[in-house]
Amino acid sequence: MRIHCKIVAIALCVGVFLLLYFFGGNAADDPLLREVEENNSEPSHAKLRHNVASKFVKKTHDEPRIGAEEALKELKEGKIINRGAKVNAKSRRRNNAGRPVSKRGRAEEIMHLAVVACGNRLDETLTMVKSAILFSIKKIKFHIFAEDPLASQFEKGLNQWPRDISAKFQYRVYPITFSVGNAEEWKKLFKPCAAQRLFLPVILKEVDSLLYVDTDVLFLRPMDDIWAFLKAFNSTQLAAMAPEHEVPKIGWYSRFARHPFYGVTGVNSGVMLMNLTRIRSTMFKNSMIPGGLSWEDLLHPLYQKYKNHITWGDQDLLNIIFHYNPECLFTFPCQWNYRPDHCMYGSNCKEAEEEGVSILHGNRGVYHDDKQPAFKVVYDAIHDFSFEDNLFQSLFYPIQTKFLETVNTLCGRIPQVFLKQVEKTMRTVYEAKVVRHVKPHK
Ligand SMILES: *[C@@H]1O[C@H](CO)[C@@H](O)[C@H](O)[C@H]1NC(C)=O
Ligand SMILES: *[C@@H]1O[C@H](CO)[C@@H](O)[C@H](O)[C@H]1NC(C)=O
Ligand SMILES: *[C@@H]1O[C@H](CO)[C@@H](O)[C@H](O)[C@H]1NC(C)=O
Repeated sequence: MRIHCKIVAIALCVGVFLLLYFFGGNAADDPLLREVEENNSEPSHAKLRHNVASKFVKKTHDEPRIGAEEALKELKEGKIINRGAKVNAKSRRRNNAGRPVSKRGRAEEIMHLAVVACGNRLDETLTMVKSAILFSIKKIKFHIFAEDPLASQFEKGLNQWPRDISAKFQYRVYPITFSVGNAEEWKKLFKPCAAQRLFLPVILKEVDSLLYVDTDVLFLRPMDDIWAFLKAFNSTQLAAMAPEHEVPKIGWYSRFARHPFYGVTGVNSGVMLMNLTRIRSTMFKNSMIPGGLSWEDLLHPLYQKYKNHITWGDQDLLNIIFHYNPECLFTFPCQWNYRPDHCMYGSNCKEAEEEGVSILHGNRGVYHDDKQPAFKVVYDAIHDFSFEDNLFQSLFYPIQTKFLETVNTLCGRIPQVFLKQVEKTMRTVYEAKVVRHVKPHK
């Protein structure tokens, strides 16, 4: 009897001691840890998802080409899930170590995309926005510059999309404004409104970096992958564009331009990545003022000087600017701004033949006429896709099937140029979705 009591008492003591040690001791060790735990009200599977998300983010940054896919592979092999489980069940210290990473991931989360839409470009712009949202990993903030009647139509169009899609992006609609010079004159330059893009560094003062695209651009892979080029800039680069042409003999600038332009064939400004912070703080060399001028002060005198010699409006001005400041420009390969020029005289974009098109740019109005059906097929499929449908059944297969009808046109002749990257992208998105649906039950 007495021995029994003793054993019970000893067991109780040990129990109390262990409890004290576990709660009191550990927390005293590391007060910060406890605070983090208290502040952290995310349920464990949400935390796990977050870890996976930052994994994706990190990977795409390091290796734009295979990032998401590799993360997916790791995910399948259980590496990420195992890491997550350990964090939640076993080691608080690990949890603490994990936090700063996810915090950093969170700070980098938003990518900025700007577009300028005038006239009848509503449908085209919404289709571009849709393509960006469909495949991208990080959140996107859209800065939409639109003429008056269009602005409210954008809001209406975007607000109609399903709620889980709306969660993936933010947007703001701005009026067309010109901060310097004669507004009417700027508006007439090239197409209505196109000159607006030159003023983005001045208008979007709170934005660090931005991808500008024309309304006739379609993303065939995550925007994250082109965004990753920002980190590849060297210390003097502040913008990135693709060459206007791959073959000098048939390029426009190399044959006809009556003004200076960048490189051998000039650059195309339909897809333009910008570090606005750097653009705002750089003095640009030019042919007018020896000491250089800030971006804002440069635009108007430059326009005054060259307005009788330029054909393509603001794109020509950009070419002049980077002619005098070549160290500021990063050029990305043609598959990031793939235009009819790359196939209508025969295929001349080697990178697209190997990897497939990453960003399609249907200039010359090819989404809306029958001149280049290969471009139109892709546009129509994304335009008609409703978010509720299955990506493969309702997007990829229609593109593939209709594309085969274009194989006797110059641009449709090599199907893998148009199909390879988009298939890869959809497979990744599709698999990621399946994994995400399975995971919370783990
Ligand atoms: C926890 O939250 C409090 C107030 O909300 C804040 O003062 C503190 O810095 C937070 N601690 C950590 C580690 O985030
Ligand atoms: C843009 O440039 C600034 C100044 O060099 C730098 O601090 C910032 O990190 C850059 N942004 C990106 C996204 O690389
Ligand atoms: C950055 O790259 C550009 C283009 O390749 C080059 O002209 C420039 O000198 C480089 N800047 C530095 C600081 O290396």
